[in-house]
Parts: sequence; C-alpha cells; structure tokens
Amino acid sequence: MISSSLSELSAIILAAGEGTRMKSKKSKVLHKVLGKELLNHVIYAAKSAGSKKICVVVGYKGEEVKKEIGESVEYAVQEERLGTGHAVMQADSFIKEEGDVLVLYGDTPLITGDTLKSLIDTHRKENNGVTILSAIVEDPTGYGRIIRDENGNFLKNVEHKDANDEELRVNEINGGMYCFKSKLLKEALKELTNDNSQKEYYLTDTLQIILSKGHRVNALVVKDSNEILGVNSRVQLAEVTQIMKKRINIRHMEEGVTIVDPETTYIEPDVIIGKDSIINPGCVLKGRTVIGEDCIIGPNSTIDNSKIADNVTVQYSVVLESTVDSDTNIGPFAYIRPNSKIGSHVKIGDFVEVKNSTIGDNTKVSHLTYIGDADVGERVNFGCGTVVVNYDGKNKHRTTIGNDAFIGCNANLVSPVAIDEEAFIAAGSTITEDVPAKALAIARTRQINKSNWVTKRKEK
Ligand code: UD1
Ligand code: MG
Repeated sequence: MISSSLSELSAIILAAGEGTRMKSKKSKVLHKVLGKELLNHVIYAAKSAGSKKICVVVGYKGEEVKKEIGESVEYAVQEERLGTGHAVMQADSFIKEEGDVLVLYGDTPLITGDTLKSLIDTHRKENNGVTILSAIVEDPTGYGRIIRDENGNFLKNVEHKDANDEELRVNEINGGMYCFKSKLLKEALKELTNDNSQKEYYLTDTLQIILSKGHRVNALVVKDSNEILGVNSRVQLAEVTQIMKKRINIRHMEEGVTIVDPETTYIEPDVIIGKDSIINPGCVLKGRTVIGEDCIIGPNSTIDNSKIADNVTVQYSVVLESTVDSDTNIGPFAYIRPNSKIGSHVKIGDFVEVKNSTIGDNTKVSHLTYIGDADVGERVNFGCGTVVVNYDGKNKHRTTIGNDAFIGCNANLVSPVAIDEEAFIAAGSTITEDVPAKALAIARTRQINKSNWVTKRKEK
C-alpha cells in the first residue's frame, strides 16, 4: 500500500454558478480582488497546498472563464446547474482511483494554502474518508450545519433549508471545502439523488454515504472563519478586498516594511518589498512589482509591474511597467509610462512624462518635460519644458542624446535626431538636425531690440 503522505493530491474547483447578485456581464469568478481573479486566488491556494492537477468546473460564461484563466488547469463543463454534487459529477473522469482530492469553490478568494495544508494533514493523519473544512460563526443562516453526536463525532451535514429547529441553532457550518479520498468520492457520487427540498444533487450527501460505508468522516474547524467567505455581490467583493488588503499589509510589516497608513495602502499579492522601505498613505502597488530596500514610496503613488531598486523615492507619481535604478528620485507628479528604464542617481521631477525611453545614470530631468522614444545618456541635464517631439502625425521616431549633453529650457527635439556627447542646445531651440559632439546648437530667430518703441507707440 502507498503511504498516504506520498499519495497524489488534486483539486476540483466549482465555478459554474451564474452569480446573479453581482449584476455583471462577466462570470462572477473573473471579478478581481487586489488585481487577481477570484478563481485565480483559489487556484493559487490549491497549488500551494500541493495540488498537482486542478480541474475547474465551468458553466455560465464558461468559455470566457477558460480564456481568461488559461491552460494551467483542466476544465469540465456543467451544462445545467443541478447542485454542488452534480457539478462534481461533471469532473468524474478527472477523479482518480488513488490519492486525495480537494473540492473547493471558485468564489472564496480568502482561502489560504496553509489552511488547505492543515485540512490535508488532518485528513491523512486521521485516515478519514473525507474531511470537511468547517467554521464556527455567529450567524449560520443559509449554510449547511455540521451535526455531531454527544462525543463530538461527525454525524451528518444538514442544509439550512432541510434543517429542523434544533439543527438550525447549530453554529458550526460547512465551509464548502473538503478533502476526499478520491476513490470514495468517485463511488459516493454514483449514489447521489436529488431527493431534498431544493431538488438538487447535494455534494454534502456524499459525507453520509462515505460514513455509512464505515469510513471516518470529520470536520476541521478553520481558525479564521473569513477564509471560507464566498463572494456573491459587489458589496462582498469590497469586504473581501478589505480583509485581503489587511492580511497582505500585515505580512509586509512583519517582514520589515513600514506602512504608514494600512487603511489606504493597496498592495497586490505578488508584490515584493525590501526591508526598511516606507510606504506612505495612498499607494497602490500592483502586479509583479518589486521594490528594493530603503525606498520611500508615496504618498499617493501607483506602481504597476515595475522594478524599483534600493533607496529610490517615488512621490505623487505613477510608474508603469518600467525599471528604476538605485538612489533615483521620481516626482512629485511624474508619469513613467511602459518600457522605460531609468538609471541610478537620476532625478525625474515634477510634471515630467517619460515613455519607452532609457535615461542614463545621473541625468536630471527636473521639470515640465516630455521624453518619448528616446535613449538618453548619463549626466544629461534637461532644462525646464523640453519636449521630445517623437510623433510626426503618422509615425513614431527615436531620438538619442549622448552623455553630458545639455538641453536648454523649452527646446523641441524633433525626432529622429541625434544629439552627441557634450552638445549644448540653446534654450528655446527647435532642433531638427543632428548636433555633433561639443557643438552649440541654436535654432531660433535672433532677438531684435527696437529702442523707444513703447514711447513712440504712445505718441501715435
Ligand atoms: C453549499 C453547501 C453548504 C455549505 C455552503 C458553503 C451543498 C449542498 N451545500 O451551499 O453545506 O454551507 O456551500 O458555502 O453543497 N456550484 C456549481 N454548480 C452547481 C451548484 C453550485 O458550480 O450546480 C458552485 C457555485 O458556483 C458556488 C459553489 O458551487 O461557487 C457553491 O454553490 P452554492 O449554491 O453557493 O452552495 P450552497 O447551496 O450555498
Ligand atoms: Mg445553493
């Protein structure tokens, strides 16, 4: 016999429901909590608990779900929504004869891999046929109740609509997550009927079937009952977001990040932040953003899918899909658009926009400047109000600026143009031709002073 600790683990995730209360054009499980779909949160938890294979049961808007979630999981289709047991039956061919299988819902994003691991551990240690994840709640309305005998042994699950008065008072509820011995689930599914108040095939009936065949059935009470919360409405989506936000912020604080105001700080689950960085109020850190150590981020900044090195400050700014090297200051009020590479010891000041450009080390772009589709060298100084004119109305062109060039205030660099090393651009110039190294380029009309012009005009 294979030792149970070595046995295979897979997971079935039910996601066929319509989610009418969301009042949405989209499948419920594709709504996002902190940047990640409800279903992907559950898939992530199942994988981190050790599920090798995952089968998602889709129904309503199933094609859309498959397209969005992709090929890392398998799918089964439930054409008609005839109950949780019926949904699992659709995945029958996925259920193996050996090992264990988790059954989860696609709309419970707060479930963690750790909790699923303890469910599996209990299941295997107690050699249960099935182990239920239950919760003790103040208001059990609507949930299935876990009924135990006087010794605390599991007797049955009763659905709210089928429960008598005594059973309705029980506040240990079925969280809707289970670890089954695969073979026993497969067998029990064959015996399900829809002989109940809802005329549904209840997955919960498998519990008694398995028990009646002489196997142990038990429920593990989850420590934090939030973990079983399902999302059925936009209000619950917001509630779950707040809980997850808090959980993520606490994790970063415990790892040495200062979060000045956790209430207004939204950090998506995959973001990494180095020690002694400070996150000021009003920040949204998204996607696969990585922030180094000793950074000061915010107030009021959004950083999406970007890599920020050590000792960087980002104030009142937006950084999207870009990299920023160490000791650089961004903002206040800067906009770093995708595919930009900002060097180290750089200053990107107020009302500066950078798009699809590289900025070399020690370059200063202090105010009111647009740099688009340009490769800028090191130690370049941009005067106030420079514009890289990258678009001619039809095509985008690239401009290069060599090391140590000086760009005077209010210059236009009409792309494509090359400004070589140490070139000097006079303020107010519109540059349309390349500028050789060390040259001064002046491209504006010479000033004329007409003496006494004002007096003469008054006399007229
Ligand atoms: C179910 C349990 C109940 C438990 C509760 C926890 C049953 C019979 N009851 O109740 O004991 O307390 O979960 O939340 O299992 N789904 C499908 N296809 C279906 C039916 C459901 O995919 O035909 C999916 C839904 O999309 C949802 C999940 O299964 O994600 C649960 O369905 P729901 O109807 O909410 O279960 P309950 O009846 O509330
Ligand atoms: Mg129901």
